[in-house]
Amino acid sequence: MGRVIAINDPVLLEHIMKTNFENYEKGDIQNSNMSQVLGNGIFDSDGDLWRMHRKTASHVFSTKIYRSLIDGPFIEHTLHLCSILERVADSGKAVDLQALFLRLTLDAFAKLSFDLNIDSLSNEGKDPFGTAFDFAVGATDERFFNPLWKFTERLTGQARKMRNAVKVIDSYAYAAIRQRRQETEEEAQARQARTGREDLLDLFIKWRDDDGRALTDVELRDVFINFVIAGRDTTAQALSWMYYEVMKNPAVEQNIWREVDRLGDQPNYEMVTKDMRYSSAVFHEGLRLYPPVPVNLKTAVADDVLPNGIIVKAGERILFSTYAIGRNKNVWGPQAREFLPERWFDENAKAKESQFKFSSFNAGPRICLGQTFATLEALTIIKLVSSKFQFKLVPGQKAPSPAPSLTLPMENPLMVYVIRRK
Ligand code: HEM
Repeated sequence: MGRVIAINDPVLLEHIMKTNFENYEKGDIQNSNMSQVLGNGIFDSDGDLWRMHRKTASHVFSTKIYRSLIDGPFIEHTLHLCSILERVADSGKAVDLQALFLRLTLDAFAKLSFDLNIDSLSNEGKDPFGTAFDFAVGATDERFFNPLWKFTERLTGQARKMRNAVKVIDSYAYAAIRQRRQETEEEAQARQARTGREDLLDLFIKWRDDDGRALTDVELRDVFINFVIAGRDTTAQALSWMYYEVMKNPAVEQNIWREVDRLGDQPNYEMVTKDMRYSSAVFHEGLRLYPPVPVNLKTAVADDVLPNGIIVKAGERILFSTYAIGRNKNVWGPQAREFLPERWFDENAKAKESQFKFSSFNAGPRICLGQTFATLEALTIIKLVSSKFQFKLVPGQKAPSPAPSLTLPMENPLMVYVIRRK
């Protein structure tokens, strides 16, 4: 493996992610480490394949669809979570908040993107999909630190565990695809009339290349897995880290309550886009300090010179850490490591101005397609959950730390007591 150049400067990031975008690819290493789980999906593809994924999926993200998501699955699944929180509150027992958020975002995302009822929130004990998925994503991340993984995984038994985990994940993906392929025209119309939209699977099944070729089941499976990692893990982790900080900062908690308590009971598109500015700042502040995609790697296609004069040779890699940029005092000022939602209202600091400074949703042409989706979902959850409940950290547990993964899960459960506010 050649040189890896680590950067944590927004100016250099802009060069890599936008100005000279065509020169920096995901590259072979990502594909070879990640393809067992992610296949040839949007996350590890480049060039025309990436463009096809991006263009096809982008049709799913529109204001009309956001409205129908808030009125439908976002509220529906969050109310399901609230009914569980009520039971936990009445029992006086502690619960793992991160696990609940992961189940919520999985259920909501599987339903709205593939019309798949995973219903992991109802299944309080077991979560076969989530368990297999977390294992596979964690094991994939370990490969980046072990160039000999193809050899060692066989010796340690990890290769077998990985195959089993992928089998479980695939069984869900293929079940959704099979079910959709068997749908008649009338059934498809009835489903789309019920939900008010074409979902991701509809769009990718309809897709044809210039020669009229459609995607195979394996390619559709890759779409499914890539979007689950995007739609489930990131938002749930962002909410877990955010509520952890809220529990430690009572003044922030009070401000959220003040905001959500003066709004009507039922969230809607206008409410979450216009009337939840403080909660939105809290969510973004959490993302700044705990970006769910903490590091990223790009490979140079041709020789290049970075704006600071560093020479990059073809084949060398650039590693950028959104986590490090989010905590960099040169970028965010002397209080960079503190949780201060107010910074998002500071017009002088123009905190939101640059995607290269706040890169938690990535930047440039590959900026996260689900940024608005995730923010609207998180704000719907914050509105419904914080109106009704307060969380208190169970004393004595270790401060949460990130577990090895492609994303940023907490290593240990986030154990909280749930207290009814109303
Ligand atoms: C708080 C939640 C989220 C965060 C912080 C986040 C962050 C990111 C980041 C950093 C990337 C770049 C990853 C890479 O290139 O390796 C990305 C890409 C992407 N995200 Fe998100 N994401 C979030 C939620 C979502 C959701 C809910 C969806 C789907 C509904 C989504 C869809 C995507 C897609 C499709 C890409 C690939 C874009 C491309 O390569 O062109 N994300 N996201």
